[in-house]
Amino acid sequence: MRKLFFIFSVVLFAACTTHNPADGLSFDATSATIATLTMPDGSDVQYTAYERLYYVSNVEDSTYQFLNIYVPAGATEATPIFLRTYVGGYMASEAKRPVAGDATGRALKEGYVVVIPGTRGRNSRVGDTYTGRAPKAILDLKAAIRYLRRFDKQIPGNTERIITDGTSAGGAMSALMGGTGNHPEYTELLRAMGAAGARDDVFAAVCFCPITDLDHADMAYEWLYNGTRHQDATTDAAVLAVSDELAAQFPAYLKSLSLHTSDGTLLTEENYLEYIKSEIIRSAQIAKNAGADISADLGFTFSKEEMDGMPPLNGGVSQSLQFQNQNISKRLKDNSPLGGLRGLPSPRTGEYIVDLDMPTYLSYVASSQPLKTAPAFDTKDVCGQKASGENEEFGDAAGSSVNFTAYSQQRVLQECDGLPMSDSLQAAIARNVRLMNPMYYIGDSRTTVAPHWYIRHGARDRDTSFPVPLNLALKLQNEGYDVNFLLSWNRPHSGDYALDELFEWIKQITTK
Ligand code: DHB
Repeated sequence: MRKLFFIFSVVLFAACTTHNPADGLSFDATSATIATLTMPDGSDVQYTAYERLYYVSNVEDSTYQFLNIYVPAGATEATPIFLRTYVGGYMASEAKRPVAGDATGRALKEGYVVVIPGTRGRNSRVGDTYTGRAPKAILDLKAAIRYLRRFDKQIPGNTERIITDGTSAGGAMSALMGGTGNHPEYTELLRAMGAAGARDDVFAAVCFCPITDLDHADMAYEWLYNGTRHQDATTDAAVLAVSDELAAQFPAYLKSLSLHTSDGTLLTEENYLEYIKSEIIRSAQIAKNAGADISADLGFTFSKEEMDGMPPLNGGVSQSLQFQNQNISKRLKDNSPLGGLRGLPSPRTGEYIVDLDMPTYLSYVASSQPLKTAPAFDTKDVCGQKASGENEEFGDAAGSSVNFTAYSQQRVLQECDGLPMSDSLQAAIARNVRLMNPMYYIGDSRTTVAPHWYIRHGARDRDTSFPVPLNLALKLQNEGYDVNFLLSWNRPHSGDYALDELFEWIKQITTK
């Protein structure tokens, strides 16, 4: 009888707590609490919370290495999972509760399971040890995804429908989750952390203003803004020289990517600015059609003649508008939801934007918020400048800041007349830079890339330059993935906006 009681107790315990001594991970369903979130419109959403679930067995930093799960009433095993990372500035980010006013609250209200992992970052420390330098944040997020799959049967939600969301450095993390799924270069690092032996690919990645492709972001920034810097009489001469050198490096990188527009045109240093221009015009035209006042002072030219409902023939510009209009009529025919393009009235005389003077527009961006210095990211000791957050991100557990691009490493060597980095340090930094850049993994047959992408970058966001999110979107599109990209009109560096449009897109991709 005593024996029977013991067996019964063990079975009961096992039913509530799934603990596998083999991997040391556990999920305790009895820890659930019930709570209510009051939305901005006053409505209430009831949910079950599972909190402080440690997603690795070798916890190095107990402040961050756990996730929270929020299950709205009515969710089942088929319900998509909305995974929001609050990483910002490449800093550590605690697992939070859902926030009524952002995408987590909205996701709960839409009935999705919400997961908010904490992650280590460049500033997290235990004692004197920095616990979260690159690539720790993406390793933590991958471990969190693996945890969800490891306890799939116990946790409501469909792990084949994970949608990641983040802004800025968090947008970069979302791009990494979407762009590096199951890649073997992360496997050993994850195993050493005690992450579950499960897949870490996701279904969709939502990336707001991703601060990504850090090893090419400096050259892209200078290529775009070099002219703007030269126009500004206050720019330091040494910084201008750096800008000139970096700008000259971008065309070779662009060429190496071999990116094509949707009509098959190869993007080159000759036509890439035209392409960016067409994307800005597309952005402004969408806003204008929705009623925004677009000022000619920003560099726009408007059509003066009656257009008969068709966009003017103006090279790439009209093609993108035509594409947009074709999409609308196709969607109307299909009777499918219109997403972000809903409610476009027919343009009237003079309402088409037919051209944009890029120098004027780029000066406007720089006037709305001063440009970063040059280099924009790998700044440390170049022209005597201070370390950036990214210099810290690639530093080590002792809290160092390091140059992480070949350009700044060489420049600092000359400028400071210092000793070169050891080969092993340089190799370690290069490895981490690679592990933090989804551009290296998209298109690699060993990666399971998310099939669906929603990428937004503000049309006046200068935290990174337009080519960075555009290159990401184009690379994905060229590899055949479903990409919804827009430079959002009049947006500075920000995220989780236009949630009606975002959640309509999520509904579309998850109900197909
Ligand atoms: C963020 C912004 C930056 O300008 C940057 O260089 C890195 C991160 C951010 O907002 O997360």
